[in-house]
Amino acid sequence: MSESFKEQKGSLEAMRPVRGMRDFVGSDAAHFYHVVDVLRDVALRHGFGPVESPIVEFTSLFARGLGEETDVVGKEMFTFQDRSDQSLSLRPEGTASAVRAFLTAKLTQTLPQKWFYWGPMFRYDRPQKGRYRQFYQFGVESLGSSTSLSDVEIIALFFESLKALSITQTTLFLNSLGDADSRAAYKTALVEHLSRYASELSADSQRRLQTNPLRVLDSKDPQDQRLMEDAPSILDFLTPDAARFFDRVKEELSQLGITFTIDPHLVRGLDYYDHTTFELKAALDEESPPLAVAGGGRYNGLIQSMGGPPVPATGAAFGIDRLLLLVPQPHRAPFTVGVLFAEEGDFAEAWKIAQRLREAFAFPVLLPTEGDLSKRLKYAHKSGVACVLILGQDERQKEGIRCKSLTDFPNLPEGQEKVVLQKDLLAFVSSLNNREGH
Ligand code: HAM
Repeated sequence: MSESFKEQKGSLEAMRPVRGMRDFVGSDAAHFYHVVDVLRDVALRHGFGPVESPIVEFTSLFARGLGEETDVVGKEMFTFQDRSDQSLSLRPEGTASAVRAFLTAKLTQTLPQKWFYWGPMFRYDRPQKGRYRQFYQFGVESLGSSTSLSDVEIIALFFESLKALSITQTTLFLNSLGDADSRAAYKTALVEHLSRYASELSADSQRRLQTNPLRVLDSKDPQDQRLMEDAPSILDFLTPDAARFFDRVKEELSQLGITFTIDPHLVRGLDYYDHTTFELKAALDEESPPLAVAGGGRYNGLIQSMGGPPVPATGAAFGIDRLLLLVPQPHRAPFTVGVLFAEEGDFAEAWKIAQRLREAFAFPVLLPTEGDLSKRLKYAHKSGVACVLILGQDERQKEGIRCKSLTDFPNLPEGQEKVVLQKDLLAFVSSLNNREGH
């Protein structure tokens, strides 16, 4: 046992999760999984397949992939030395790992690869509503996709996901960071603008003015933000090719009926983006400013910068924690059946009945195992079971099972019982399920 844990042993402090991290228990966990299930289902139906990668990677992967000058790499990573003195980091996002997995699996000739993933990410930021140190993302990456349509497909997929979650109040902010030539021209103009105020900029921004001026646009410092208000717009510096690409994105979005607001200062907090960048923002409540529930864009240079061939790519990620704040908790628990055995000797028979139901239906079937019959009945009640099937000696002799409803069904009012022959059981339970709540 570690020293610090021993010191705190016995105090509740030691039992608390680490600051900015939390548990999902009971209905919160069900809510969480509901959102993940919906997102996964929509992604699968759009032809994206799952990918899993480790939560821990070499620190250099993120430093190289996301950029040394980003807040995420410079200030927010959970970095540690392992026992072999290698610098490792908990992943702060999923794109760098997805690209690493793509290169490790040697898939650069099998394009495009359309992937989705979800899981915990870690950023050491100041926790507040909708911002955690361990948070969850649902991401999609389209590797080997070069067209404006593949950017639009991802944005449309995200809108479909929001629709499936019944979230309507989001705004799409859109920008283009152009190609390398566009950014080089823009950087010169931006540095010229910012140099006029250099001494008023925050220390970070003064440094970034020299090392990576685009990052200044992303500064969270209020004074920096004020000085950026009349900064030049990158959209005035797009090369003809980059401007055409962005025009196509806008046109194709409009063809799908997706509206957007252009935000020429939307550079995003990671260095790998070029061309299209976007964010979906929503107001979590009336007081606080809108928060980004998703963000993404094109990253044509990342795969090559990580040692692969030049493969264009695009992607985005939802912040699941923020979606949870917008998706109402489901009011009704799903239809659930409990199978109860009266005596220990009836357990195997009860298990077989539960399995028959589980094979026939998708709803949950509980088989409480603790205590006596009345305790098991109480547990079923507390678990929100709609009806219990009780198996005892009497019923077994008649090849039946006693059904007791714990909610109101038209064919079995609450609290009433009925013995159903086992051969008719599936049809009877199906009739309850179909008529629930009517
Ligand atoms: P990101 O904008 O850094 O992009 O994160 C995506 C989303 O994760 C944000 O819009 C937000 O909803 C959520 N998020 C970020 N930080 C936190 C936090 N501390 N607490 C709660 N939620 C948070 C990326 O990570 C890119 N990898 C997205 C991407 C995929 N681009 C291309 N492909």
